[in-house]
Amino acid sequence: MAQTLSKPRLKQKYRKIKITPRFCYFRSENLENQSDFATEISYSLTRKNKFIHPKFFYDEKGSKLFEEICVLQEYYLTRTELEILRSIKLEMANHLSGDYALIELGSGSATKTRTLLEILTRKQKSVEYYPIDISEILKETSENLQRDYDNLNIMGIIDQYEIGLKFIKKLSIQNQLIVFLGSSLGNFNLEENMKFLKKIRALMKENDLFLLGLDLVKDTKILEKAYNDSKGVTSKFNLNLLKRINDELAANFDLDKFEHVSLFNNEEKRIEMYLRSKEKHEVLISAINLALKLEKDELIHTEYSYKYTVSGIKDMAEKAGLKPVKIWRDKDNYFALVLFSIKN
Ligand code: AVJ
Repeated sequence: MAQTLSKPRLKQKYRKIKITPRFCYFRSENLENQSDFATEISYSLTRKNKFIHPKFFYDEKGSKLFEEICVLQEYYLTRTELEILRSIKLEMANHLSGDYALIELGSGSATKTRTLLEILTRKQKSVEYYPIDISEILKETSENLQRDYDNLNIMGIIDQYEIGLKFIKKLSIQNQLIVFLGSSLGNFNLEENMKFLKKIRALMKENDLFLLGLDLVKDTKILEKAYNDSKGVTSKFNLNLLKRINDELAANFDLDKFEHVSLFNNEEKRIEMYLRSKEKHEVLISAINLALKLEKDELIHTEYSYKYTVSGIKDMAEKAGLKPVKIWRDKDNYFALVLFSIKN
């Protein structure tokens, strides 16, 4: 059994795919074979505490389910962030003197990105946009965007954030506005948060800006409802991980034998998501030759979603060498958008 968490990819072979004169994307050829997925799953499901990395949520079906989550009444995050973005358009524009390229981590369906693209495409003769996303949804989204803004050029990267950032660094782009919305930073633990922020900091030059969207600590009931919605979409999203393993690694998970669990851990200030095995049973994952034993009530951990406080954000920024230029919040203090420059 392979025991490495994330095999370092030695050969980074990228394919450049040109869709239109104003839209191309890069995609690692490694993404096309299943070896990374197989390696990581065979590691993570054989730990004492089983887990599945949340980046695996976003296959085609999972990406669609996530889009559905974003418009749920209980999932206040997306609409609140969008509301803040819309209300700060003028102010944002004032922070951007000169032309900026837009670099976005986890662009997804880019609904929120449009508010920023509107600012940039109006102010500038042309705009370079570099979306980085693990999901293939990037293709469709980017095609729509370049159709809607005729002075927009898009170079997408379909891969993990870290790899996309390395790619961006090599391009040494002048005046970058880096954005990471949706509180996706919250998927990482606090140590990884710091590492990640430092990576972004290392990419930034004097006039560069970094806009980060973070979900704030609030009433536990509101938080827990956002991750356990009444329509059961989040449950489907979580269970889809098992379906993906069935489809891609020839496994026989019976989805009815699992249930979606989410709870707010108040000490750690994070939502924790799990799949709970309803009974003692065994699952076969053929592609990795694994007979997986599950106890009754055993949990497979699938996601953390950290929640932040303004003072916590300031501490984090300080340690990462970032200077908060401005912190915007909605009227209920549910969500924060933070604009950073480098600290000098
Ligand atoms: C995309 C990581 C920000 O944590 O709120 C939504 C993912 N998981 N519902 C989040 C998610 C369950 C989402 N992020």
